[in-house]
Amino acid sequence: MTEPAFDQIDACVFDAYGTLFDVHSAVAQGGSALGDKAQAVSNLWRQKQLEYTWLRSLMGAHGDFRQVTRDGLDYALAAYGVEDEALKDRLMALYLTLEAYPDAAPCLSALRADGRATAILSNGEPEMLGAAAASAGLSALFDAVLSVEEVGVFKPDPRTYQLAVDRLGVPAERICFISTNAWDAAGAAFFGFRVAWLNRFGQQPERLPGRPAAVIAGLDELPSLLER
Ligand code: LAC
Repeated sequence: MTEPAFDQIDACVFDAYGTLFDVHSAVAQGGSALGDKAQAVSNLWRQKQLEYTWLRSLMGAHGDFRQVTRDGLDYALAAYGVEDEALKDRLMALYLTLEAYPDAAPCLSALRADGRATAILSNGEPEMLGAAAASAGLSALFDAVLSVEEVGVFKPDPRTYQLAVDRLGVPAERICFISTNAWDAAGAAFFGFRVAWLNRFGQQPERLPGRPAAVIAGLDELPSLLER
Protein backbone atom coordinates (compact mmCIF):
# COMPACT_ATOMS: atom_id res chain seq x y z
CA MET A 1 0.00 0.00 0.00
CA THR A 2 1.43 3.38 -0.91
CA GLU A 3 1.34 6.14 1.68
CA PRO A 4 -0.96 8.98 0.72
CA ALA A 5 1.14 12.02 -0.17
CA PHE A 6 -0.82 14.39 2.05
CA ASP A 7 -1.84 12.40 5.13
CA GLN A 8 -1.18 13.89 8.58
CA ILE A 9 -0.94 17.52 7.54
CA ASP A 10 -1.30 19.84 10.54
CA ALA A 11 -0.60 23.16 8.88
CA CYS A 12 -0.98 24.71 5.44
CA VAL A 13 1.53 27.42 4.63
CA PHE A 14 0.90 29.66 1.65
CA ASP A 15 3.11 31.80 -0.50
CA ALA A 16 1.50 35.24 -0.83
CA TYR A 17 2.19 37.00 -4.10
CA GLY A 18 0.83 35.18 -7.12
CA THR A 19 -0.68 32.50 -4.88
CA LEU A 20 -3.17 34.40 -2.69
CA PHE A 21 -2.78 37.89 -4.16
CA ASP A 22 -2.89 38.83 -7.83
CA VAL A 23 0.28 40.85 -8.42
CA HIS A 24 -1.05 42.05 -11.77
CA SER A 25 -4.06 43.74 -10.14
CA ALA A 26 -1.92 46.82 -9.36
CA VAL A 27 -1.27 47.64 -13.01
CA ALA A 28 -4.81 46.53 -13.91
CA GLN A 29 -6.22 49.10 -11.48
CA GLY A 30 -3.73 51.96 -11.69
CA GLY A 31 -1.83 51.53 -14.93
CA SER A 32 -4.24 52.89 -17.53
CA ALA A 33 -1.60 55.48 -18.50
CA LEU A 34 0.51 52.58 -19.79
CA GLY A 35 -2.02 51.80 -22.55
CA ASP A 36 -1.13 48.72 -24.56
CA LYS A 37 2.19 48.33 -22.68
CA ALA A 38 0.38 47.60 -19.40
CA GLN A 39 0.61 43.80 -19.41
CA ALA A 40 4.20 43.77 -20.60
CA VAL A 41 5.23 46.27 -17.92
CA SER A 42 3.44 44.27 -15.23
CA ASN A 43 5.13 41.04 -16.35
CA LEU A 44 8.58 42.62 -16.45
CA TRP A 45 7.97 44.28 -13.06
CA ARG A 46 7.24 40.89 -11.50
CA GLN A 47 10.19 39.23 -13.27
CA LYS A 48 12.70 41.86 -12.14
CA GLN A 49 11.27 41.94 -8.60
CA LEU A 50 11.90 38.20 -8.28
CA GLU A 51 15.33 38.35 -9.94
CA TYR A 52 16.38 41.02 -7.48
CA THR A 53 15.34 38.82 -4.54
CA TRP A 54 17.51 35.97 -5.81
CA LEU A 55 20.43 38.19 -6.77
CA ARG A 56 20.45 40.15 -3.52
CA SER A 57 20.38 36.88 -1.58
CA LEU A 58 23.37 35.60 -3.57
CA MET A 59 25.20 38.90 -3.17
CA GLY A 60 24.61 39.00 0.57
CA ALA A 61 23.00 42.42 0.00
CA HIS A 62 19.53 42.03 1.44
CA GLY A 63 17.00 44.81 0.97
CA ASP A 64 13.38 44.34 1.94
CA PHE A 65 10.63 43.38 -0.48
CA ARG A 66 9.37 46.96 -0.71
CA GLN A 67 12.81 47.95 -1.98
CA VAL A 68 13.07 45.18 -4.58
CA THR A 69 9.47 45.79 -5.66
CA ARG A 70 10.19 49.47 -6.23
CA ASP A 71 13.48 48.71 -7.98
CA GLY A 72 11.75 46.17 -10.24
CA LEU A 73 9.06 48.70 -11.12
CA ASP A 74 11.69 51.35 -11.79
CA TYR A 75 13.46 48.98 -14.19
CA ALA A 76 10.25 47.90 -15.96
CA LEU A 77 9.03 51.44 -16.53
CA ALA A 78 12.45 52.57 -17.79
CA ALA A 79 12.62 49.55 -20.12
CA TYR A 80 9.38 50.72 -21.74
CA GLY A 81 10.46 54.36 -21.86
CA VAL A 82 8.05 55.55 -19.16
CA GLU A 83 9.16 58.32 -16.81
CA ASP A 84 6.35 59.09 -14.40
CA GLU A 85 7.07 59.34 -10.68
CA ALA A 86 3.39 59.79 -9.79
CA LEU A 87 2.53 56.56 -11.63
CA LYS A 88 5.32 54.77 -9.76
CA ASP A 89 3.99 55.97 -6.41
CA ARG A 90 0.44 54.98 -7.36
CA LEU A 91 1.45 51.47 -8.42
CA MET A 92 3.51 50.98 -5.25
CA ALA A 93 0.54 52.10 -3.14
CA LEU A 94 -1.70 49.65 -5.00
CA TYR A 95 0.68 46.84 -4.04
CA LEU A 96 -0.69 47.24 -0.50
CA THR A 97 -4.24 46.53 -1.65
CA LEU A 98 -3.75 43.79 -4.24
CA GLU A 99 -6.83 41.75 -5.05
CA ALA A 100 -7.00 38.28 -3.56
CA TYR A 101 -7.81 35.45 -5.95
CA PRO A 102 -11.46 34.44 -5.44
CA ASP A 103 -10.49 30.87 -4.47
CA ALA A 104 -8.33 32.04 -1.50
CA ALA A 105 -10.92 32.80 1.20
CA PRO A 106 -13.10 29.68 0.67
CA CYS A 107 -10.01 27.45 0.71
CA LEU A 108 -8.63 29.01 3.91
CA SER A 109 -12.03 28.76 5.62
CA ALA A 110 -12.40 25.09 4.65
CA LEU A 111 -8.92 24.20 5.91
CA ARG A 112 -9.56 25.93 9.22
CA ALA A 113 -12.93 24.23 9.58
CA ASP A 114 -11.02 20.93 9.23
CA GLY A 115 -8.83 21.98 12.20
CA ARG A 116 -5.67 22.80 10.30
CA ALA A 117 -3.45 25.78 11.03
CA THR A 118 -3.01 28.25 8.17
CA ALA A 119 -0.20 30.71 7.57
CA ILE A 120 1.47 32.93 5.02
CA LEU A 121 5.20 32.58 4.45
CA SER A 122 6.29 35.30 2.08
CA ASN A 123 9.13 37.43 0.84
CA GLY A 124 6.86 40.40 1.57
CA GLU A 125 7.82 42.61 4.47
CA PRO A 126 5.40 42.55 7.40
CA GLU A 127 3.63 45.85 6.68
CA MET A 128 3.00 44.95 3.02
CA LEU A 129 1.66 41.53 3.97
CA GLY A 130 -0.52 42.87 6.77
CA ALA A 131 -1.98 45.56 4.52
CA ALA A 132 -2.70 43.17 1.64
CA ALA A 133 -4.32 40.58 3.92
CA ALA A 134 -6.45 43.21 5.65
CA SER A 135 -7.52 44.88 2.42
CA ALA A 136 -8.55 41.51 0.97
CA GLY A 137 -10.47 40.63 4.16
CA LEU A 138 -8.25 37.59 4.84
CA SER A 139 -6.53 38.62 8.10
CA ALA A 140 -8.74 36.53 10.37
CA LEU A 141 -8.06 33.40 8.28
CA PHE A 142 -4.41 33.01 9.32
CA ASP A 143 -2.77 31.75 12.51
CA ALA A 144 0.44 33.48 11.45
CA VAL A 145 1.69 35.83 8.77
CA LEU A 146 5.41 35.13 8.46
CA SER A 147 7.85 37.36 6.62
CA VAL A 148 11.36 36.44 5.50
CA GLU A 149 12.43 39.74 7.06
CA GLU A 150 12.83 37.75 10.28
CA VAL A 151 15.77 35.90 8.70
CA GLY A 152 16.97 38.63 6.33
CA VAL A 153 17.21 36.52 3.19
CA PHE A 154 14.75 35.63 0.43
CA LYS A 155 13.17 32.37 -0.66
CA PRO A 156 14.27 29.74 -1.63
CA ASP A 157 16.98 29.95 1.06
CA PRO A 158 16.18 27.07 3.48
CA ARG A 159 16.27 29.47 6.44
CA THR A 160 13.04 31.03 5.16
CA TYR A 161 11.16 27.72 5.14
CA GLN A 162 12.60 26.83 8.56
CA LEU A 163 10.87 29.93 9.89
CA ALA A 164 7.48 28.27 9.38
CA VAL A 165 8.60 25.12 11.23
CA ASP A 166 9.92 27.17 14.14
CA ARG A 167 7.08 29.63 14.42
CA LEU A 168 4.23 27.14 13.93
CA GLY A 169 5.89 24.41 16.00
CA VAL A 170 5.00 21.86 13.32
CA PRO A 171 7.60 19.54 11.75
CA ALA A 172 8.30 20.09 8.05
CA GLU A 173 6.76 16.77 6.99
CA ARG A 174 3.45 17.76 8.56
CA ILE A 175 3.33 21.06 6.69
CA CYS A 176 1.72 21.40 3.28
CA PHE A 177 3.25 24.33 1.41
CA ILE A 178 1.36 25.90 -1.46
CA SER A 179 2.85 28.22 -4.06
CA THR A 180 2.08 29.28 -7.59
CA ASN A 181 5.75 30.04 -8.12
CA ALA A 182 7.29 26.82 -9.45
CA TRP A 183 10.76 27.78 -8.15
CA ASP A 184 9.28 28.34 -4.66
CA ALA A 185 7.46 25.01 -4.84
CA ALA A 186 10.78 23.32 -5.75
CA GLY A 187 12.65 25.10 -2.94
CA ALA A 188 10.02 24.19 -0.38
CA ALA A 189 9.94 20.52 -1.48
CA PHE A 190 13.74 20.36 -1.39
CA PHE A 191 13.57 21.74 2.15
CA GLY A 192 11.22 18.95 3.23
CA PHE A 193 7.68 20.33 3.06
CA ARG A 194 4.97 18.42 1.30
CA VAL A 195 4.21 20.74 -1.56
CA ALA A 196 1.15 21.38 -3.66
CA TRP A 197 2.22 23.44 -6.66
CA LEU A 198 -0.66 25.68 -7.65
CA ASN A 199 -0.14 25.87 -11.40
CA ARG A 200 -2.59 28.70 -12.06
CA PHE A 201 -0.96 29.70 -15.30
CA GLY A 202 -0.19 26.36 -17.00
CA GLN A 203 3.57 26.80 -16.60
CA GLN A 204 6.33 24.25 -17.05
CA PRO A 205 7.71 22.70 -13.87
CA GLU A 206 11.17 24.02 -13.03
CA ARG A 207 14.17 21.78 -13.71
CA LEU A 208 15.40 22.07 -10.13
CA PRO A 209 15.91 19.73 -7.18
CA GLY A 210 12.73 19.36 -5.12
CA ARG A 211 9.55 17.85 -6.55
CA PRO A 212 6.04 18.96 -5.57
CA ALA A 213 3.93 16.04 -4.34
CA ALA A 214 0.89 17.34 -6.24
CA VAL A 215 -0.06 19.86 -8.87
CA ILE A 216 -3.39 21.66 -8.53
CA ALA A 217 -5.04 24.16 -10.87
CA GLY A 218 -6.97 26.09 -8.22
CA LEU A 219 -7.08 26.45 -4.43
CA ASP A 220 -10.54 24.86 -4.45
CA GLU A 221 -8.73 21.53 -5.03
CA LEU A 222 -6.61 21.78 -1.86
CA PRO A 223 -8.97 20.82 1.01
CA SER A 224 -9.93 17.47 -0.52
CA LEU A 225 -6.29 16.71 -1.33
CA LEU A 226 -5.36 16.59 2.33
CA GLU A 227 -6.18 13.34 4.08
CA ARG A 228 -6.09 12.80 7.79
C1 LAC B 1 6.22 35.62 -2.03
C2 LAC B 1 6.67 35.76 -3.47
C3 LAC B 1 7.62 34.72 -3.86
O1 LAC B 1 5.09 35.95 -1.67
O2 LAC B 1 5.62 35.69 -4.32
O3 LAC B 1 7.06 35.17 -1.23
